Amino acid sequence: MELCGVTYHAPCDASELSMASDSVDFYISIVVLQHVPAQVLKAILAEGNRVVRPGGLFLHKIDHSDHFSHTDAAISAINFLQFDDAEWEKYAGNRFMYVNRLRQDDYLEIIRAAHQNVLLCEAGVDDRAHELLEKNGLKLAERFARKPKDILEITSSWILSEKPCASS
Ligand SMILES: C[S@@+](CC[C@H](N)C(=O)[O-])C[C@H]1O[C@@H](n2cnc3c(N)ncnc32)[C@H](O)[C@@H]1O
Repeated sequence: MELCGVTYHAPCDASELSMASDSVDFYISIVVLQHVPAQVLKAILAEGNRVVRPGGLFLHKIDHSDHFSHTDAAISAINFLQFDDAEWEKYAGNRFMYVNRLRQDDYLEIIRAAHQNVLLCEAGVDDRAHELLEKNGLKLAERFARKPKDILEITSSWILSEKPCASS
């Protein structure tokens, strides 16, 4: 770590960092945000805005898939979209399996509401999920039934955003 110039802070809460304001050029998270409740996510982005310098970049890789599908081939990557929040809480409302089930459009809304400019957004689409949605093969919970299919079939995202410079 020392050789690479890396300082590893753990445990650490990303909504309360010890770093100085405007001291960070690049802020990267890899498959973290889907494990964070939406309210905490807003606090994490606000703290990110504090530590990142104006014009600094945020890059997030987000895994939107049902994590139970990683080890159970019988279910699809969007299997969890059938459950309402109360039922999903029974299966995954614990500190080991929690995922927020936010979709790509929700993240974009939250990031923009945090006053960051979204520079790039890439979507990974799951073929099996696409097919299921096309055939109406999954009864969706109301929270998801309202969303377009081309959002629901996205199972991973790369989102690049920028903390605006003071003048922009
Ligand atoms: C699937 S793991 C991703 C690990 C990551 N890619 C890495 O290389 O360390 C999700 C991580 O999110 C972290 N996490 C969840 N909420 C957090 C928070 N509020 N602040 C900091 N880390 C958090 C968890 O501790 C966990 O290590």
